[in-house]
Amino acid sequence: MSVSRFGCDKLPCVDVENVAADVEKVLLTEADIQRRIGELAAEIERDYEGLDLLLVGVLKGAVMIMADLSRALHRHVETDWMAVSSYGSGTRSSGVVRILKDLDTDVIHRHVLVVEDIIDTGLTLSWLVSNLRSRGPASVETCTLLRKPEAAKRPVDVRYVGFDIPNEFVVGYGLDYAEKYRNLRVVATLAPHVYG
Ligand code: IMP
Repeated sequence: MSVSRFGCDKLPCVDVENVAADVEKVLLTEADIQRRIGELAAEIERDYEGLDLLLVGVLKGAVMIMADLSRALHRHVETDWMAVSSYGSGTRSSGVVRILKDLDTDVIHRHVLVVEDIIDTGLTLSWLVSNLRSRGPASVETCTLLRKPEAAKRPVDVRYVGFDIPNEFVVGYGLDYAEKYRNLRVVATLAPHVYG
């Protein structure tokens, strides 16, 4: 059997039609996301040419962008994961950052690129970057798929931004509401009845 890329037309998979009643608006389609990730990967390849690179994904939201970004890079790359608490099951930042899972890798003298799903207030990322910088890496930079306006206004140091989006709560492509909708292939806003 020849191996090809299976899309939604070939295999049943969860997508926006499956949860249509919950979705208010699709902000980014699968094609929008994949095209932008390809552009970010090209920039990253240029910037890190000749340097070793460790991608650090922030669980759980960055799982999708880590998978797609790392495979869009035409070079060796190592990956590791951290989990930090930021939101509970609601839609507002708690402002409290706590490490739930630390890196398995020692980052001393390494070039680290933190990969995030979304930056809202920027609290999580700022905290994470200073924490990683205190461990003696060669460099720490950041990449996020989505950025909300509040973070765009603050001096949050983000080197690679996929999309600037409006100040709305979004789900899909790794992002959840109460642990659901992470497996949507699009980024969408939810209908008000879902929060009720
Ligand atoms: P920040 O510390 O306010 O920047 O929040 C960052 C974290 O909050 C992200 O890694 C997400 O886990 C979560 N978050 C922020 N905005 C959203 C959203 O619109 N949908 C889902 N999760 C979000």
